[in-house]
Amino acid sequence: MEIERAQELGLCFGVRQAIKLLRKAASKYGRIETLGPVAHNRQLVQGLTAVGVEMVDSLDLVQGTALAIPAHGVSPEVLSEIEARHIRIIDTTCPIVRKAQNAAEGLAKAGFTVVIFGEAEHSEVKGLLGWARGQGIAVCDVKEINTSRHLSRLGIMSQTTQNHSAFVEFTKQVMATFSSKIKEMRIINTLCKATKRRQEAAVRLAKRSELMLVLGGYNSANTRRLFEVCSSIVETQLIETADEVKASWLTGKERVGVTAGASTPDEAIEELLVRLKSYSR
Ligand code: F3S
Repeated sequence: MEIERAQELGLCFGVRQAIKLLRKAASKYGRIETLGPVAHNRQLVQGLTAVGVEMVDSLDLVQGTALAIPAHGVSPEVLSEIEARHIRIIDTTCPIVRKAQNAAEGLAKAGFTVVIFGEAEHSEVKGLLGWARGQGIAVCDVKEINTSRHLSRLGIMSQTTQNHSAFVEFTKQVMATFSSKIKEMRIINTLCKATKRRQEAAVRLAKRSELMLVLGGYNSANTRRLFEVCSSIVETQLIETADEVKASWLTGKERVGVTAGASTPDEAIEELLVRLKSYSR
C-alpha cells in the first residue's frame, strides 16, 4: 500500500503564529487563558494546556489577568468588554481574519448591507457580523437573503476558509437573483489562500488515490471542507486521531492519500502516517 501526503496540509501560518504568541505569553505570565479554543482542534488545545494555556468558554469565567483572543478573532463588542474588565489582551487573530474584519467594517461604514458567505454560528462569522456593525447577515445560500433588507447597495464577502468555487457561484447567484434591486455591488475577496492551496492539493491527491483520510477537528470548518471536496472524488474518511483508523478501510487499497485541516498539529499527522505504515507491512 502506497501512502501519500498532500503537498500542502496541516497547520497554516495563522495558527502557527497564534501558537507561538500563546507559548511566549504563557512563559512570560506563567498562566494565560484563551476565550474559546485558539483553533478548532482538541489535540492542539490539549497540547497548549500542558504549557499553561487554559481555555475558558466565556468572559465571566476568566480568572487570570491575561486573556488571548483566538485566531478566528472576536467582535468589537467582545473586545470592548475585555478592555472594560482591565484584562491584558494577547491578540492572536490571524492577519487574514483581521483583513476580513476590516472589510466588513469598511463596507458597513460606506453604507452597504454586508452579506457574509458563511455559517452564522461559526466563531469567525460571529466576529465579522460584529464588525459589520448591525448591517450584516451571514448566509450559506442565496435563498436565505431576506428581501426586506436594503439591497440597493450590497457588499459581499466570505468567511475566510470557505471554498473558492462555492463563493464564486454564490456571488453569481446573488447577482442573478437580485439584479433588479441592486444599484451597486461590491465583492471583496476575503478567502484565505492557505485554505485554497490545501483544498487544491487535496483534490489533486484524491484524484490519484483509492481512499482519502482527512485528519482534523470534527468542529473545524476548514477540515470539514477538505472532507467535502475529497468525498466528491473518492471514498473519504474524516478522523480526529490516528486511533480512529479502521483496518477494514484499507483492505484492498493500493493508494491512500492523507490531508489535514489547518489546525491539525504536526505530531498528529506524523502519528497517522506511522500508523498507516504499520498497516502496509
Ligand atoms: Fe488564517 Fe487561513 Fe489559517 S484565515 S488561521 S491562515 S486557515
